[in-house]
Amino acid sequence: MKPELVDILVPNKKDRRHLISLLQQVQYKFGYIPKEAMLAIADFLEIPESTVYGIATFYNLFRFTPLGKHPVKVCMGTACHLAGGKLVLEAMARELDIQVGGITSDQEFSLDRVACVGCCALAPVVVVSDSVYPRMTPPKVEEVLVTVKPVSQEQPEKH
Ligand code: FES
Repeated sequence: MKPELVDILVPNKKDRRHLISLLQQVQYKFGYIPKEAMLAIADFLEIPESTVYGIATFYNLFRFTPLGKHPVKVCMGTACHLAGGKLVLEAMARELDIQVGGITSDQEFSLDRVACVGCCALAPVVVVSDSVYPRMTPPKVEEVLVTVKPVSQEQPEKH
């Protein structure tokens, strides 16, 4: 067993009804569900790997790639959805050139949709790292990403 999983795969959780809770703990610890962790859980619970994979992928609360240095979360709670959150999410996916649940090739950004983040009056909302960006629109997406992009990533100006 991977040493990082020792405190999660504890004897009193050795029952398949704890599968979702084990997956949640793994995601909490690593920020995603690594493939090795799914295999370790299957081994620990003595159930097929396909069962663990099937359950993990059934729920859209689990992600299978690491988080970027700047995790981007687009709120898709009711208020944000009604205020155009879906268009913001699509614009963000286009701008980052990744799908929801993915990570950019430079590992700078990951993209997720989340439930209400608790500031519905500012809908639609995007959270990047710990900063909340209110009243988002598709045209504002690039602006937001530029503000969090590290200076080293900026293109040098051509003269
Ligand atoms: S629904 Fe988006 S902040 Fe509440």
